Amino acid sequence: MTKIEKIVLSYSGGLDTSIILKWLQETYGCEVVTFTADLGQGEELEPVRAKAEMSGVKDIRIVDLREEFVRDFVFPMLLANALYEGQYLLGSSIARPLIAKHLVGIAREVGADAVAHGATGTGNDQIRFELAVNALDPSIRVIAPWRQWNIRSRMQLLEYAEKHRIPVPSDKRGEAPFSIDANLLHTSTEGKILENPAEVAPDHVYQRTVDPLDAPDRPEIITVGFERGDPVSVNGKAMTPAALLTELNGLGGRHGVGRLDLVENRFIGMKSRGIYETPGGTILLAAHRGIESITLDRAAAHLKDEIMPRYAELIYNGFWFAPERDMLQALIDHSQAFVSGEVTLRLYKGSTSVISRASPCSLYSADLVTFEESAIAFDHHDAEGFIRLNGLRLRSWAARNGR
Ligand code: ARG
Repeated sequence: MTKIEKIVLSYSGGLDTSIILKWLQETYGCEVVTFTADLGQGEELEPVRAKAEMSGVKDIRIVDLREEFVRDFVFPMLLANALYEGQYLLGSSIARPLIAKHLVGIAREVGADAVAHGATGTGNDQIRFELAVNALDPSIRVIAPWRQWNIRSRMQLLEYAEKHRIPVPSDKRGEAPFSIDANLLHTSTEGKILENPAEVAPDHVYQRTVDPLDAPDRPEIITVGFERGDPVSVNGKAMTPAALLTELNGLGGRHGVGRLDLVENRFIGMKSRGIYETPGGTILLAAHRGIESITLDRAAAHLKDEIMPRYAELIYNGFWFAPERDMLQALIDHSQAFVSGEVTLRLYKGSTSVISRASPCSLYSADLVTFEESAIAFDHHDAEGFIRLNGLRLRSWAARNGR
């Protein structure tokens, strides 16, 4: 093992990273700097400082990254309407490159030669962290304790905690908690009973959305304003990116919007089952598609939809900082120049429906589409010729087939 001088640890203050902190200090015998990002996970972060102090950490970084997260990561991804495997809004995937970026930044600032993370050896997150660090600074080493130590199970982890007097948190029911990853975009819950996809997820898994059955009986009508593809206002009120997403999370959560029970294919190879809650993101996806429907040209919209699964997969697999993501992003960003206007949606018992949309840059022409007499000269003979030419090869084909 080569000597390591200083490590920056991505530290949540939870059980896993508390044990990792201890393990790093013991194994490498060097200074460990902790970095905790506020991504809107909805937890008090000051206790994290106390915990790190108790473990003898001198340099403790707690940074509010909520605006950067939404502005530079969530919103650019939203421009693409990105969904992995048709359903997952990528709430964990999109947070990893941001955390890696700051780990690398702090490592450079304090002269650390390594960064460490608490992602396990079977998940996607280890890949995302490490690919991002590779892309941002190849000279920095990555330590992944979950792949290095001989702790092999939650059970052994708890034993290690007991031995080193690290307090073990339990959930409200006194049980070991699920594996949870939360930020302003989503809450993801995995593990325990959820590992059996044949089991229905118990109700207490859900943290930020009410059961649609218990949601208000009256629908709520909201508007979302867009400028060049980015959401900028809710109900006519201009908001910063993080404030806007927070507001929509509250509205969506109350109406049970954005729950997803999904079995997905991890990059590393296995299938996994998780429960996702993405209230604000689900509203934004519907709203963004709504405003695009009147502002994007057909071929532009279809091209975007063709590359979307590819773009989503890149993000899922951890290639945010990669040339191919930059290239696709340039295309997506370029497409949004006229994606401005306002969308009205109805939130009701778990559903989010676009009910109207308007834009100063609309391509929609009532004159062209109308069933009534039109002011614009649309020659119906053109449609006849259009169909005749498109049918030419079909008539040849059918004749050959003997029909
Ligand atoms: N499966 C999701 C992903 O790969 C979430 C992973 C983190 N979530 C968790 N509960 N540990 O993006």
